[in-house]
Order: sequence, then structure tokens, then C-alpha cells
Amino acid sequence: MAPFPLIIISLFLLASLAAASPEKEALLAFKRALQDLQALETWVEDDDPNDHDKYLYFSHCEWAGVECRHGRVTSLALPARSLEGPLSTSLFNLTALTSLDLSGNALTGNIPTEGGDLVDLETLNVGNNLLSGSLPVALFQKLQSLTVLDVANNTFSGSIPSEIRNLKSLAHLYVGINQLSGRLPSEIGELSQLRTLFAPSCNLIGPIPEELGELTQLAKLDLSYNPLKCSIPGSIGKLHSLQVLNLVSSELNGSIPSGLGNCSKLRTLMLSFNSLSGFLPEELSELSMFTFSVEKNDLTGPLPSWIDKWKSVNYLMLSTNRFSSKIPPKIGNCSMLTHISVSCNMLTGSIPNELCNAPLLQEIDLDNNFLSGIIDDTFAKCGNLTQLVLVNNKIEGRVPEYFSTLPLAVLELDSNNFTGSLPASIWSSPRLMEFSAAGNVRE
Ligand SMILES: *[C@@H]1O[C@H](CO)[C@@H](O)[C@H](O)[C@H]1NC(C)=O
Ligand SMILES: *[C@@H]1O[C@H](CO)[C@@H](O)[C@H](O)[C@H]1NC(C)=O
Ligand SMILES: *[C@@H]1O[C@H](CO)[C@@H](O)[C@H](O)[C@H]1NC(C)=O
Ligand SMILES: *[C@@H]1O[C@H](CO)[C@@H](O)[C@H](O)[C@H]1NC(C)=O
Ligand SMILES: *[C@@H]1O[C@H](CO)[C@@H](O)[C@H](O)[C@H]1NC(C)=O
Ligand SMILES: *[C@@H]1O[C@H](CO)[C@@H](O)[C@H](O)[C@H]1NC(C)=O
Ligand SMILES: *[C@@H]1O[C@H](CO)[C@@H](O)[C@H](O)[C@H]1NC(C)=O
Repeated sequence: MAPFPLIIISLFLLASLAAASPEKEALLAFKRALQDLQALETWVEDDDPNDHDKYLYFSHCEWAGVECRHGRVTSLALPARSLEGPLSTSLFNLTALTSLDLSGNALTGNIPTEGGDLVDLETLNVGNNLLSGSLPVALFQKLQSLTVLDVANNTFSGSIPSEIRNLKSLAHLYVGINQLSGRLPSEIGELSQLRTLFAPSCNLIGPIPEELGELTQLAKLDLSYNPLKCSIPGSIGKLHSLQVLNLVSSELNGSIPSGLGNCSKLRTLMLSFNSLSGFLPEELSELSMFTFSVEKNDLTGPLPSWIDKWKSVNYLMLSTNRFSSKIPPKIGNCSMLTHISVSCNMLTGSIPNELCNAPLLQEIDLDNNFLSGIIDDTFAKCGNLTQLVLVNNKIEGRVPEYFSTLPLAVLELDSNNFTGSLPASIWSSPRLMEFSAAGNVRE
């Protein structure tokens, strides 16, 4: 019909192929350095006489994982393709790349420092590999368009270079699960677009730089499982976009900063396994908390009387501290509560009947306190209860009959002051997997 457009297309194709051939060479050099190449079957050499696919895949833009625009390779995406071997320097010859995703393979060796400037690269994901060595400074000097940098879950060592300040567009930084050491550089505070800072399970030490407070876009901050040995800086209260803060098991001391109450979007606050002391600041009551965990710290004072302000809290994990008060009856007004643990504290008084006004409760752990009184119908309304642990308190009276009607899988009543015989129905309860009531007074 109309041969004219066809000719134009063919000419364009030929021109682009000719122009792109150094890029084909760069891709082939990457391939040749690797083992286990099933994923790269379509990456054929021009001069392979046995390869019947060579005309089909003559253009490297047709190869698996490769995307081109105007004949230039703009994206290379080979996540979880069992690639083994080094990250070839030749990849840095693909100077039109905007996205490079080689995550979840078994790549080894260093990130090459030489090579061209990938000035358009926005996403670099080499997470979940076996890469090692330091994070090259050149990476932070040359790749100035990066918005996503994922090097997590490798064995990188050394420190996070202060040159990271050059990555002005960086929104998501994943460096965790490596052997990175030293301090978090204060220059991170200059990354004004940063929304995710994921740096758990390294060897990072404190102090946490005050400058982190400048990150007004930061929504997720995870520095858990690092030997930080410092306190939480008050400037954390300036993170107005913060939704998730995970500082579990980071050797933190000092108190929980009241400024956290200014992080109005904070929904998940995980501070367990540290040495934090002092009271739970009342300022936290203003937050729409979803998950709150402070297990295994040195927190003192009462269980907060404002707790019912947390209308959407699901997980309330307060065990192994030194909280000393009664259990506030208002806790039953936390109507979304599914899990509560206040084990190993110094709580006194009886268990309030209001607790089971929270209809979704599945797990209640109150063991190792000084709770007393009887539990008549305290748990009768907890129709979703699968775990109840009351071990080592001073609870008296009879073990109630209705336990057998609850969906309990775990019921532990040891070391209390229960009297009377156990209701026979408990033994026929179909779901009960774990039941114990040793160390009680029997008649
Ligand atoms: C990459 O580029 C460098 C310099 O431009 C060149 O010397 C080298 O041969 C190229 N490597 C490949 C595999 O294309
Ligand atoms: C780390 O990467 C390996 C290899 O891809 C994967 O099997 C493992 O689940 C990853 N670990 C984490 C914690 O993501
Ligand atoms: C939190 O907000 C209060 C009232 O606006 C202010 O006085 C306080 O300085 C803020 N704290 C932080 C750490 O931002
Ligand atoms: C926290 O621990 C560090 C290092 O052990 C110590 O220098 C600092 O004084 C402690 N801070 C508080 C508030 O206890
Ligand atoms: C729980 O909330 C209801 C309605 O908002 C209120 O009437 C009741 O007094 C509250 N209960 C407690 C123990 O605060
Ligand atoms: C158990 O939870 C469901 C929602 O998962 C809720 O609709 C129901 O009322 C609860 N059951 C009882 C007996 O409270
Ligand atoms: C249990 O009750 C008896 C009798 O009232 C009392 O002597 C004993 O101290 C109580 N034991 C505990 C652990 O509270």
C-alpha cells in the first residue's frame, strides 16, 4: 500500500541499531561475566552460527529485561533471575539508563567505581544480592538523578559516605541488612525529598544526627537492630510526615521524647528491646496510633489513663518494663485492640471487666504482675480470644466455666491462687492446644 512510511521506519530502525551497537557490546560484556544464564537466553551474539534466534533477537532492545527508547537502553530489569557473578563495569556504558534493577540475584564483588556517569539513572536496585566492599563515593557523586537507591541485604561494609548529600532527588534509601558501620552522616538531613530511610541490621553507631529532623517528607524511618548506644533526639518531633518509626533493639537510652506527639501522622511506633526510661509522655495521646510496642525497656509510671484516646490501636505491647498501676478500665474503649501484652510489670489491682468491651481482642498477656481479685465474667465477652496468659499473679476464685466457650488455643493460669476444681468442659474444648494451671491452691 504505502511503502513510504515503511521505508522511513526501516531507515530509523537501521540507524538506531547502528547507533546502539556499543550498548549491545556493553550488555554482552555483562552477560559474559555471569553464570547460570537461562534468564539471558535471548541475549544472543551476532556471530553465533548455532543460534537460530539470532535474527529474532538481532536488536538487543528485544532482549529479556531490556527496554529502549530511541534505540538507547533506558531500563534493565532482571530481578530474581538467578544471575551469579560480578556487576560488570560495562553496565556503566549504558549512559541513557533511567532504571537498573538487578535485585534478588546472587551477584558478587564490588559496585564498580569507574565507568561513565549515569546522569539519568533514577532507580538503582541491587538489593538482596551478595555484593560486598564499600559503597563507592563515586556512586553518590555521579548518579545525581537517583530517586531510589536500594543496596539493602548484601554484605557492604564501611560507612555511609557524607557525599550522599549530592543525591538531591533521593526519595527512598534502602541500605539496611549490611555490615555498614560508623555514624549516619548528618548530611542525610540535606536530602529534602527523602521519604524512606531503611537502615536496620547494620553496625551503625550513634548519635542519631539532629539534622534528621530536617527531613520533612520522611514517612518511614527504620534504624532497628543497630548498636546506636544513644538517646532519641528531640528533633525527631519535627518529622511531620513520619508514619512509621522502628528503633527496636538499638541500645537506646534516655526517655521517649514528648516531641513525638508532634508527628501527627505517626501510626507505628516500635521501640522494644532498648533501655528507655521515664514515663510514657502524654503528648503521644494525640496520635492515631495503630501499633505501639515498647517491650523490654525500663519505663516506669502508670499505664496511661489517656489510653482510650488511641481509638485505632491494634497492638499494645508494653511487657517487661516497670509500669506500676492498676489496669485502666478505659482500655476497653480502645475498640480496635486485638493484642495486648503487659506481662512482667508491677501492675496491681483486679482485671477490669471493661477490658473485654474491646470486641476484637485475640491475645491478652497479663502474666508476671501482682494482679489480684476474681475473674468471674471478666473475659466472657471476649468472643474472639485465642490466647489468655495470667501466669504468676494473685488471682483468686474459681476458674470460670465459660472459658470452654471461647475460641482459646492458649490458656495459662499457673501460679495464681485459683481454688476449686477445674471445669470439666475445659478438657473437651476443641481448640485448646496449650493449657496449664499448675501452682494453684486446690481444694
Ligand atoms: C565502555 O566504555 C569504555 C570507554 O568509553 C570503553 O573503553 C569500553 O570498551 C566500553 N566497554 C564495553 C564493554 O562496551
Ligand atoms: C536477602 O536476600 C536473599 C537472597 O535474595 C533472600 O533469600 C533473603 O530472604 C533476603 N533477606 C531479607 C531479610 O530480605
Ligand atoms: C511540638 O509542638 C509544640 C507546640 O506547637 C512546640 O512547642 C514544640 O516545640 C514542638 N516540639 C518539637 C520537637 O517539634
Ligand atoms: C546513653 O548511653 C551513652 C553511651 O553509653 C551515654 O554516654 C549517655 O550518657 C547515656 N544517656 C542517658 C540519657 O542515659
Ligand atoms: C467509653 O466510651 C463511652 C462512650 O464514648 C463512655 O460512655 C464510657 O464512659 C467510656 N468508658 C470508660 C471506661 O471510659
Ligand atoms: C469478633 O471479631 C469480629 C470481627 O473480626 C466482630 O465482628 C465480632 O463482633 C467479634 N466477636 C465478638 C463475640 O465480640
Ligand atoms: C493464696 O491465698 C492464701 C490464702 O488466702 C494466702 O495465704 C496466700 O498467700 C495466697 N498466695 C498468693 C501467691 O497470693
